[in-house]
Amino acid sequence: MTKRTFGVIGLAVMGENLALNVESRGFPIAVYNRTAAKTQEFMEKRAVGKDVKAAYTLEEFVQILERPRKILVMVKAGAPVDATIQQLKPLLEEGDMIIDGGNSLYEDTERRTKELEATGLGFVGMGVSGGEEGALKGPSLMPGGTKAAYEELEPILTKIAAQVDDGPCVTYVGPGGAGHYVKMVHNGIEYGDMQLIAEAYDVMRNGLGLSNQQLHEVFTQWNKTDELNSFLIEITADIFKYIDPETNQHLIDLIVDTAGQKGTGRWTIVSSLELGVPIPTMYAAVNARVISSYKDERVAASKELPGTDAKFDGDATAFVDKVRDALYCSKMCSYAQGMALIAKASSEFNYNISLPESARIWKGGCIIRAGFLDKIKKAFTENPGLPNLLLAPEFKQSILDRQQAWRDVLILSNKLGIPVPAFSASLDYFDSYRRANLPQNLTQAQRDYFGAHTYERIDKPRGEFFHTEWMA
Ligand code: 6PG
Repeated sequence: MTKRTFGVIGLAVMGENLALNVESRGFPIAVYNRTAAKTQEFMEKRAVGKDVKAAYTLEEFVQILERPRKILVMVKAGAPVDATIQQLKPLLEEGDMIIDGGNSLYEDTERRTKELEATGLGFVGMGVSGGEEGALKGPSLMPGGTKAAYEELEPILTKIAAQVDDGPCVTYVGPGGAGHYVKMVHNGIEYGDMQLIAEAYDVMRNGLGLSNQQLHEVFTQWNKTDELNSFLIEITADIFKYIDPETNQHLIDLIVDTAGQKGTGRWTIVSSLELGVPIPTMYAAVNARVISSYKDERVAASKELPGTDAKFDGDATAFVDKVRDALYCSKMCSYAQGMALIAKASSEFNYNISLPESARIWKGGCIIRAGFLDKIKKAFTENPGLPNLLLAPEFKQSILDRQQAWRDVLILSNKLGIPVPAFSASLDYFDSYRRANLPQNLTQAQRDYFGAHTYERIDKPRGEFFHTEWMA
């Protein structure tokens, strides 16, 4: 038997699909799963006639891999990743490499990379986006960690990744936890996008009174526009036309309105707070999921706390265009926040992440794939020192052209009592960022008043601090 080029540990759906993806590009593979029955099932159901060899012990698995060994670990993030690494470590030899393709916390990846590099092994923490279908047919890959290991893996990764007009959706993101950091922000942006779409839906469904069929048409139309064309808009259009075979009703109307989450959105918020980068759109999205989970309390409160009887009495068709503009403006703010966060993390952690490359590898395969990522790539290519995406000429003009519509949507939502936390957070971000003066002069006065925390003065050089005896 020829030795196997690539090994996969963990045969849950993402592991299985990535293994089959690698095999389909002409690389002989080995698979291993902790539960042998799962391996057997995979071999019988999905690997028949394919160049796949199953191993039933880790020793056997390691033996049939060609050197340097390339082992993709697809187990649950957290302790299972550490456990797998500990079991593998004594079986591996210098230059062999482990790739963690789960949604691991970047700090864990940082630690694991250091630990393994110190023993002569390579470690690649690789964000993988695109769900089951992407894993099988071409995901977006965000690998970081040992550079030499990435170089060994590149011929395989470039073949299994999604392909777009400017190359495969993979690049070496940076050292240590850089790959998982970028994947984490991808997910934060994913949360933001999903929440913004949900708010657009709420305004159009409950404010403007559109039917599911009309919503299907609106989202189908939006998906054809330069601004909003994206995977998430496309699946949203599909969702509105899906009829539940059991009840013959629109399935969307039968789904309980409490959103789950696995933690990557929350991690993004925590990191942004630690680094001091405002990402209010994503924060609003995470909070919206949290408050949605208070279903019983909300149902009870809905009987106690009536809102308003106000109704929309304008032209719904014209207003739909304003909602589209509000969505696009908010989306621009959200991506501006995400890119600013990556830039800050990159300088803080010495990741040396390329922003144009980050945008490019999101153009295909991943959940946030969208036509407009090409514009983001161009904006940071043209001006690598761009402090904020909203200042790039194209984005600046786009937002200025649409800001009145955006404000109108907020006014209507507030009037009707429809919560639009991510739309609002985005507009507040815009209004805060674009203002030369904010009311934090008062905050500083208060801090100095009660705690002698001092303040700077506009009529004196920055960096000189003053204290006043306010009660004197
Ligand atoms: C992807 C997704 C994926 C994520 C799920 C669920 O890029 O393919 O981001 O990695 O795990 O979308 O995330 P939540 O359960 O937190 O919504």
